Amino acid sequence: MRGGAADIRSWLDSRLPVQSVVDFARHKTVPAHRLSVVYYFGGMTLFFFLVQVLTGILLMLYYRPSADAAFESVEFIMTTVPFGWLIRSIHSWSANLMVFFVFLHLATVFFTRAYRKPREITWISGCLLLFLTLAFGFSGYLLPWNQLAFFATRVGTDVAAAVPVVGEWMMRFLRGGDHVSGGTLSRFYGWHVAILPAITTLLIALHVLLVQIQGMSVPPSETAIAQRRRPLKFFPNFMLRDLFGWVLALGLLASAAALFPWELGEKADPFAPAYADIRPEWYFMFMFETLKLVPGGEVAGVEYEAFPILFFGLGALLMMLVPFLDRTGNNRMVLPIGVVAIIYMVGMTAWGYRSWVPVLIVLATGMLTAVLALATRRVPRGGS
Ligand code: HEM
Repeated sequence: MRGGAADIRSWLDSRLPVQSVVDFARHKTVPAHRLSVVYYFGGMTLFFFLVQVLTGILLMLYYRPSADAAFESVEFIMTTVPFGWLIRSIHSWSANLMVFFVFLHLATVFFTRAYRKPREITWISGCLLLFLTLAFGFSGYLLPWNQLAFFATRVGTDVAAAVPVVGEWMMRFLRGGDHVSGGTLSRFYGWHVAILPAITTLLIALHVLLVQIQGMSVPPSETAIAQRRRPLKFFPNFMLRDLFGWVLALGLLASAAALFPWELGEKADPFAPAYADIRPEWYFMFMFETLKLVPGGEVAGVEYEAFPILFFGLGALLMMLVPFLDRTGNNRMVLPIGVVAIIYMVGMTAWGYRSWVPVLIVLATGMLTAVLALATRRVPRGGS
């Protein structure tokens, strides 16, 4: 039996660089310091993405992307397909958790200044992954073809029209016509199940490859500690801890999906009067609320609404440029601007929901991260 395994190994070795990969994994280490816990958040985001791919493929087997059949096919999944309700619920919960963890991962790599040289491309690919994740959310929201999603998509795509010069074109490109219709649904489906997954998979591969090539960065505040401590072996020590987190996340997902199944609502009716309580997904709420504050009107042919849209566009661009604005990692302006941006986003979200819950969630996440950092701040002797 051993002989068989060794034969296969040597057969592969002479065709693929298996031994170099094994050597790489054997020598790979993760720095040990008081903030090592942040190294798990990227992997957690990856876990939710994998859940999305798996459950998404299962949903595709029954989902039908047309205005006549979409809602009914989701209803069928929830009532008739064995465990269909669970798969749909896990897909929806995991989507939200993925967005949550992308933001958390972004915030931690930002505050630990992991974007510094030579990780500029890792950071930029990460920003693109954030935009892709949001695009997944936006396109997926419409697919069940229910009232809330229909009207939210109408408002969401209307926003694009306010962009000067290219706005009208962008709106029609998104909708596949002048109105949100069955055509928009097929278009969103194409983005959601083919274009976005293909680009995202390639970008994640690049992102993770860069992390492998460059190794994990050490936050400036932890350099001295990381030099004194023996690093953690990636394989198997760090990987097992990562997997432990994934098992916990799977438990959380399954419980949330089983205890709070995702609602379907009523079928979209394009001719019904606009839905009273139109609201986007929580991660678009801060932009939605900002736009609601802007009065109607225009100046020099540009709608007032265009200004906050351009402001958010500029914010996204600035975020991508962070590694170049803080080349040395000691720019005193960068972190306070990040704090102000977070306060604004969380504040506007709380305002949008007229609730303190978003603030409490962010505070609880910060506290939990601090508790985890405290609990794992000492690595046992021997680095295991
Ligand atoms: C689909 C979304 C994403 C996935 C699956 C992902 C995955 C990962 C993984 C597995 C790691 C290594 C472990 C870790 O440091 O946490 C990592 C590191 C990193 N990610 Fe992401 N990431 C995503 C989005 C982002 C975003 C939005 C940013 C920031 C704009 C970002 C920036 C970085 C940086 C700079 C590192 C290196 C960290 C270091 O060296 O300490 N990533 N990512």
